[in-house]
Amino acid sequence: MCGIVGVVGLQDCADTLLDSLKRLEYRGYDSSGIVTQSEDGFAMNRSVGKLNALSAMMQEAPLAGRSGLGHTRWATHGGVSERNAHPHIAGNKVAIVHNGIIENHAALRENLCKAGHEFASETDSEVLAHLFLAAFERGLSAREVAEDVLSRIEGTFALAAMHIDHPDMMIVARNASPLAIGLGDGACYIGSDAVALSHLTRSVIYLKDRDFAIVTPDTAQVFDAAAVPVNREVVIVAASQGLVDKGGYRHFMEKEIHEQPDAIAHTLAAMTGPDGTLSTPFSRDELQGIDGIVMLAAGTSYYAAMVARYWIEGLARVPVSCEIASEYRYRKPVTGSFTTAIAISQSGESLDTLMAMHHAGEAGLKTIGLVNVPESTIAREANLVMPTRAGPEIGVASTKAFTAQLTALICFATSLAEAKGQIDARRRDEIHTQIKGLPSIIGKAVGLFDNIRPLAHSLTKANSALYLGRDVLFPVAMEGALKLKELSYIHAEGFASGEMKHGPIALIEEGLPVIALLAADEVMDKAASNLQEAKARGARIILVTEERAASAGDFADEVITVPNVDPLLAPLLLTVPVQILAYLTAFEKGTDVDRPRNLAKSVTVE
Ligand code: AGP
Repeated sequence: MCGIVGVVGLQDCADTLLDSLKRLEYRGYDSSGIVTQSEDGFAMNRSVGKLNALSAMMQEAPLAGRSGLGHTRWATHGGVSERNAHPHIAGNKVAIVHNGIIENHAALRENLCKAGHEFASETDSEVLAHLFLAAFERGLSAREVAEDVLSRIEGTFALAAMHIDHPDMMIVARNASPLAIGLGDGACYIGSDAVALSHLTRSVIYLKDRDFAIVTPDTAQVFDAAAVPVNREVVIVAASQGLVDKGGYRHFMEKEIHEQPDAIAHTLAAMTGPDGTLSTPFSRDELQGIDGIVMLAAGTSYYAAMVARYWIEGLARVPVSCEIASEYRYRKPVTGSFTTAIAISQSGESLDTLMAMHHAGEAGLKTIGLVNVPESTIAREANLVMPTRAGPEIGVASTKAFTAQLTALICFATSLAEAKGQIDARRRDEIHTQIKGLPSIIGKAVGLFDNIRPLAHSLTKANSALYLGRDVLFPVAMEGALKLKELSYIHAEGFASGEMKHGPIALIEEGLPVIALLAADEVMDKAASNLQEAKARGARIILVTEERAASAGDFADEVITVPNVDPLLAPLLLTVPVQILAYLTAFEKGTDVDRPRNLAKSVTVE
């Protein structure tokens, strides 16, 4: 999704802006731009496509100035074009960048046009430039200008505006979209997240919803929604990790698949007490107070929630409802005996999940954020936080964050079960021993690239594929199908194996690839029968299974095996081959693996 950066008070700031934009590339974008301000006025470069196109423009036409704004755009209103790219300039006096959606943009635009403003783009964002221009032209102070503009707009936004008569000042504001202000030595910075700023400063202020700020080289004066000056905490963020690189792999996704043993080990370390026992960040009292859980998430994180439902209900006997965040946020949920909402999000910035969490909080539920980015909005706004420690995930397709989420959730389910008196210390220790073995066993599964390569090669010719799983492997089937479709653009659907006979089996025709997940669990025989039914109708069965369950599916056309594991942990282990299959298929097809078409890493619009 869109990324914002800005600098006030740094000589020749254009290169710094470009560097910061590179750090936001992972969010996904389709165009970019930078504007700087000097005594000669505004100078701007904008380009469609990747940042190297903008970088080439900057080489040809360098931008001078001590203040400036940069933006990566993921198109919402208006197609992908240079004139729709940000920044937007109005009347040669105001430049703005914006992330989010201005919902009342059409009415605002109509009024501004009637007042003589001329628009140059099809975007909703450009109204902001004209609103700021109109407010400045009425002779208002910077604070009054901000109040005026914010009172007129509806929707979600992180925005920044500069005026030509105020070269050392920037007005910034946020509502639902993230925005951080970095305090430097003689210069201040803004960014969509701390990653964009971490090479510049470690002192960061996170604006709260409806806050605005006036940023100068020496200070950031923050105001709340009522325009009252407020002190927002200056947070010291982790030292700069430098630009995350591919570490010798061809793609971030390939690297991140290989990083899963570490991601799981680090997540476990965060859940290990001083005595070496696995636990959660919650006290026994907090766990005992949990009587029902609403899980809120999107995409892959939603499938993690679905897996966790089997674990939490099975082990702790606590009811769980899994909710697609974008649906939940507009429902009138009956909370009943549910006490707790867990918002699951790698980025901690998915707007749907954030808003669903707020909705749950307003309905009286205690909120827990399960997030991978510790400084993210969900982490800051949840009542309690359960971290994953997968490290930065750059590939748009989520891999190591998913298995890290599952790791945290199985620890949570076990602790909850114990606090609720549903399992004894012996069973807890058994499960913990298995969980502690995960990094090593997952390490074996990530070694399957060569085994899966020929299969991926054959899959590139498929138009469609089905993924089947039963019980706790059903969500893994959904996740496998999502990985294949988002990366290789092959139509794929995940189904519960037992549901096939109720409709989807009609899709099966000679040679249709069916990726079948099977573990040596209570439903293995039934799941195998469901696969036989598909096989009998011509499906090409590609079995993904543990070594000891392979014989149950001896009718399969191809088999990928992983080491044996406790049935509880099979979802983690069987996820890895389906990730590899999706990665290699996309690689063979030549798609943009790390940045698939139309997708963004951090989805900060509705
Ligand atoms: C998965 O591969 C996708 N990138 C996507 O479904 C993602 O999981 C979803 O957008 C949720 O993101 P979050 O975990 O950062 O909230």
